[in-house]
Amino acid sequence: MNAEQVLKEMTLEEKAAFCSGRDFWHTKAIERLNVPSVMMCDGPHGLRKQEGEGDHLGINKSIETVCYPTAAALASSFDRDVMRRLGEALGQECQAENVAMLLGPGLNIKRSPLCGRNFEYFSEDPTLAGEMGAAYVQALQSKGVAACAKHFACNDQETRRMSGSSNLDERTLHEIYLPAFEAVVKKGKTRSLMCAYNAINGEFCAENKMLLTDILRRDWGFDGFVVTDWGAVKGRAKGVASGLDLEMPGGPNATGEELLEAVRNGELAEADLDKAVLNLLRFVETALRARDENAVIDRDACRVLARQLAGECAVLMKNEGLLPLEAGQKVAFIGEFADKPRYQGAGSSHINVPHPVSALEAAGGAVVYTRGYDAHSDKTDEALLTQAVDAAREAEVAVIFAGLPDAFESEGADREHMRLPDNQNELIAAVAAVNPKTVVVLHGGSPVELPWLDRVPAVLCMYLGGEQVGAAAVDLLYGKVNPSGHLAETWPIRLQDTPSYLNFPGDDGVVTYAEGIFVGYRYYDKKELPVNFPFGHGLSYTSFAYSNLSVDKEKLTDRETVTVSVDVSNVGTVAGKAAVQLYVRDVKSAVRRPLRELRDFAKVALQPCETKTVTFTLDKRAFAYYEPRVHDFFVESGEFLIEIGESCRDIRLSKPVQVEGTTLMSFTIDANTTIGQLMKHPKGAAFIRQMMGKSHRPSDAEQAEAMGEGSEKIMQQMMFDMPLGSLVSYGRMTSKQLKDLIASLNA
Ligand code: BGC
Repeated sequence: MNAEQVLKEMTLEEKAAFCSGRDFWHTKAIERLNVPSVMMCDGPHGLRKQEGEGDHLGINKSIETVCYPTAAALASSFDRDVMRRLGEALGQECQAENVAMLLGPGLNIKRSPLCGRNFEYFSEDPTLAGEMGAAYVQALQSKGVAACAKHFACNDQETRRMSGSSNLDERTLHEIYLPAFEAVVKKGKTRSLMCAYNAINGEFCAENKMLLTDILRRDWGFDGFVVTDWGAVKGRAKGVASGLDLEMPGGPNATGEELLEAVRNGELAEADLDKAVLNLLRFVETALRARDENAVIDRDACRVLARQLAGECAVLMKNEGLLPLEAGQKVAFIGEFADKPRYQGAGSSHINVPHPVSALEAAGGAVVYTRGYDAHSDKTDEALLTQAVDAAREAEVAVIFAGLPDAFESEGADREHMRLPDNQNELIAAVAAVNPKTVVVLHGGSPVELPWLDRVPAVLCMYLGGEQVGAAAVDLLYGKVNPSGHLAETWPIRLQDTPSYLNFPGDDGVVTYAEGIFVGYRYYDKKELPVNFPFGHGLSYTSFAYSNLSVDKEKLTDRETVTVSVDVSNVGTVAGKAAVQLYVRDVKSAVRRPLRELRDFAKVALQPCETKTVTFTLDKRAFAYYEPRVHDFFVESGEFLIEIGESCRDIRLSKPVQVEGTTLMSFTIDANTTIGQLMKHPKGAAFIRQMMGKSHRPSDAEQAEAMGEGSEKIMQQMMFDMPLGSLVSYGRMTSKQLKDLIASLNA
């Protein structure tokens, strides 16, 4: 099949119809022209292939297969290779199941821990989300299966997700909410994007030209196709004209007729419809070319992979010498999740797993078990509590498996609070009171408050670790696997501390991102707020030392790159993996900036006493912020610190570099432009110098006598803040002279 040729031969009716799906999961075939229908299925952490009736809520049955760790867990690996292994396995499975596109990865930013779908998203940090997403997309697509990055964009909550508007400023949009998508487009080369249900500043994503054409295609060079989230289509003709290609799910109520009518009555240019059709035809053409008829999938091997990946993702949050456990220790596993682990979230990503592996099963009789709480309730069952406390008292070590039950977090609904169920908090406190050697193993897709944190010596967070989560937990608890995950999000102490607290989930369908760029650690660090665990935090059974941080140049312009290298050594006694994090800090800035921002990271495996050199290359974007006045990323010249850390609050080494920004900030001058602003304008600065030269300036002594010590600085500040128009008020020039001056400066 040749997409261009097919397009030429299609009738207008065929084109209009082709832009909606055949049913829940398929594109339409055009038999006359030998264009087959192809299938897409939900992911992202497993294959949800429905052979019977389709739905987008995870209700109807899908094939039995393997559930890998969810995105919240995956991001904590800080390891692109984890994403590669997962992407390749899923690509292989899609080929074996004749699926042309997998709907993922989910790239939305964790603006609030309450978003019910956070388990499906990577991080509060755009660099981490983008890099993990791009690695996954590359791997999936290397098997000839298209990725579909979602939900583009600003779908950061579930409340009113299908009708609400996320309102935010241009800088925040570009600096926080778009870069992960930009990375999967530019680096990952994703073949598809799914537009979100919601609006951005009042314009629905499904018909948002700024988003789907100006930014996505013009600025980022995207050449794939855009599909609606299921049922997100709004104005059909406006959508296509704005850059939307495929409506899903389509079916009998699809909007082909509407498109046809729009072309006939001139509302939609046929050329715009052609663009959408061609984008879709190219997708089908590529899928056919890449189709591997002979692909098979070895699900047992996939289960081994799922166990390994879960081990790479878990985060050892706290460990005061208690872990790893030793063989032969008398251990009690307490809590229903030890027997029936929570390993995935509800909704469209729900995978049909024949046999999830629990920690109890994996421990194979080496432990005693007591249920502790009822996972379907938050009320304490006194009998269960008493049994648990008794078991804990008799054990050397008590391991409590706790976390968020299904009912607490799901696609389609946000959480109401950040607490664990009351019965679990009570259980942990009661067990810790009788056994000081208490470990808490957490399951869940998002942070929770930890009121008992200072009473337990060890906490291991498994997130929603996929069907092998129980086996992986046992591997980690007993030291068969050394924990190496690091948090991809801050764990705040209280919900009230979170940056979006006053603006989540908004009122009446409008949510204002009032915290702006200060999302996650960008907020907590700037405010110097205490947190339970900072972004990037994660412990190991070994420890790492960092040395020899060096840069290949100490001065550069923003057109150049700088290569950074650092040595990392395993200084403990067991093999382990370090997550080396590189942050950049603008030492002094004229605009508000976060204290530091993650710009790159690397996962490094090290034997005891081994040292490896890690190298990073930083370009303009590592130093830039988004400047709305130039509608682009902008580097303010000055000193920056390159920092290496094990979390955003554990910086081990730092090195200064001078970066010169080469973009000129041109702006329009008017009577309200201040002298200070004018000094940043090349012509304006010359004018100010000339004006200052002519005016009488009091000596320092005269000034001090008139206004007191330190007055020079104050005078200067007053002068800088003075608008040009006031030069007329103070008799320095006439209105005519001011008008001429403004015209000449703007010329
Ligand atoms: C979800 C998407 C999903 C689609 C198809 C929607 O409700 O938001 O993430 O891919 O359904 O199931």
